[in-house]
Amino acid sequence: MKKLLRHSRKTMLLALMGGGLFLFSQCHKAQQFPEDEFDERLSGGAATIFDASSRAFTHPIPALAGHDRYVHDLGDAGFEQSFVAAPAPLHGGLGPIFNNVSCISCHHNDGKGIPTAGFANSSLLFRLSENGHDEFGGPMGLPGYGGQLQDQAVQGTLPEGKVSINYTEQRVQYPDGSSASLRVPTYTLTQAYAPMAAGFALSPRMAPPVFGLGLLELIPEQTLLSMADPNDADGDGISGKVNYVWDAEHQRTAIGRFGLKANMPSILTQVAGAYNQDMGITNKIFPVESSFGQPQAPTPSAHTDLADTLLQAVAFYVKTLAVPARRDTRDPEVMHGQQLFAQIECGRCHQPTLQTGIDVRFPWLSNQRIHPYTDLLLHDMGSGLADNRPDFLANGNEWRTAPLWGIGLFEKVNGTPYYLHDGRARSLEEAILWHGGEAQHSKELFMQLSRSDRDAVLRFLKSL
Ligand code: HEC
Ligand code: HEC
Repeated sequence: MKKLLRHSRKTMLLALMGGGLFLFSQCHKAQQFPEDEFDERLSGGAATIFDASSRAFTHPIPALAGHDRYVHDLGDAGFEQSFVAAPAPLHGGLGPIFNNVSCISCHHNDGKGIPTAGFANSSLLFRLSENGHDEFGGPMGLPGYGGQLQDQAVQGTLPEGKVSINYTEQRVQYPDGSSASLRVPTYTLTQAYAPMAAGFALSPRMAPPVFGLGLLELIPEQTLLSMADPNDADGDGISGKVNYVWDAEHQRTAIGRFGLKANMPSILTQVAGAYNQDMGITNKIFPVESSFGQPQAPTPSAHTDLADTLLQAVAFYVKTLAVPARRDTRDPEVMHGQQLFAQIECGRCHQPTLQTGIDVRFPWLSNQRIHPYTDLLLHDMGSGLADNRPDFLANGNEWRTAPLWGIGLFEKVNGTPYYLHDGRARSLEEAILWHGGEAQHSKELFMQLSRSDRDAVLRFLKSL
């Protein structure tokens, strides 16, 4: 532990030195440091925390202190706060239509959600749209419904509808004769509160974890652009595309990083959008109720439901959640799995190592060498995973590469394991077997491995 502390101090020093260099020379590029200088358990660099319990995703960055720590704790309380319908002396403003009553009720323990719809602990929501684009190039909301189905409502108002989920099992055969079973979901919209336009698109989205996002926000745009290969110019079958989305805070187009289709440009807009769409809490960035324009909606009030300081604090909380350290990194099976992971080309999209840029306000997020296992780019994952609903530049087959850091702890944090954008996969193995499109070749390489090699890949994932 002592050695480790010394190490993270060294990482911190590098971060500060990096910041200094940046001030002197604007064109100084982030350096690649030699591998043996680093402890590979530090998935989040100086923003790594050592806890493998069910609370693993809930910790502030270790170096956070003073006023920053105070704002983080304020945001933590905001994240856990349940809202109620107005009029109420405190935490009013819920709805009139919503999906859940607090952030934590979808992002359980700051981790991944569970794929039920319409229940109190449900973390699965559905985006809606019809053909075409809105004025900002985003999805075209459905008349009378908007861009998201709110399946809950306060008393006296009807929820927009419900979604029923039906799974059928589909067997997959490995070349070595063993097999696995995948659940294929079908989503049916029921109890629509008003007539719906024909031919609408419905996109299931289950809550992803929310730790480590401050680091992902600081990955330089140049890094994302350098990994992208939208027309597959190098001919390796893997393209990777940057999403360009509408930034409602700055009123301009920006690179998308957050959301399952990289459909949000920043943590702040993502959080503000969640308050508005998921909970019906209006705020400075999204001041119009999600029910606006519906025949059943009350006249919107002029005031916003959420104080801007609270919005900022919750965004700060998300930005400053630490990444859990890896476990068992010296275990021979884990190390073998790590090699195979690279060999069968998983790392082409799940990029093991990236370097954050510099923001002088956040030294412990700056110039960090991190292991997020994502490129934050959009990839065509084949028709099996497609939602057939475009989201800015993301087409109906494309999803953002899911970060794999912390994935070995999802089950512990949540109590139940569910993977992929809609929670259809019940194990890491099933998640891999769903890969298609650009990842088809990589999936086939996985399937051709011997059983013990496949187990090693899974064991490696469990160490993340
Ligand atoms: C109804 C469930 C639900 C609620 C309530 C909810 N979220 Fe989410 N959250 C989601 C889903 C689903 C996504 C993915 C959205 C997408 O792809 O468009 C998401 C995405 C996010 C992300 C982006 C994560 C990433 O990896 O890109 C952040 C940050 C986030 N939510 C924070 C919050 C905060 C803060 C609140 C409370 C204000 C909140 N959420 C409330 C379901 C929920
Ligand atoms: C072409 C890019 C690409 C390649 C190659 C790829 N993946 Fe993925 N991976 C993705 C994307 C995109 C998702 C999110 C898909 C979704 O949610 O529907 C994902 C999701 C996952 C998940 C589930 C994550 C979660 O949070 O639920 C796991 C586990 C995973 N990949 C492991 C692997 C492994 C192991 C390999 C190599 C056999 C691999 N991937 C190869 C792009 C890729």
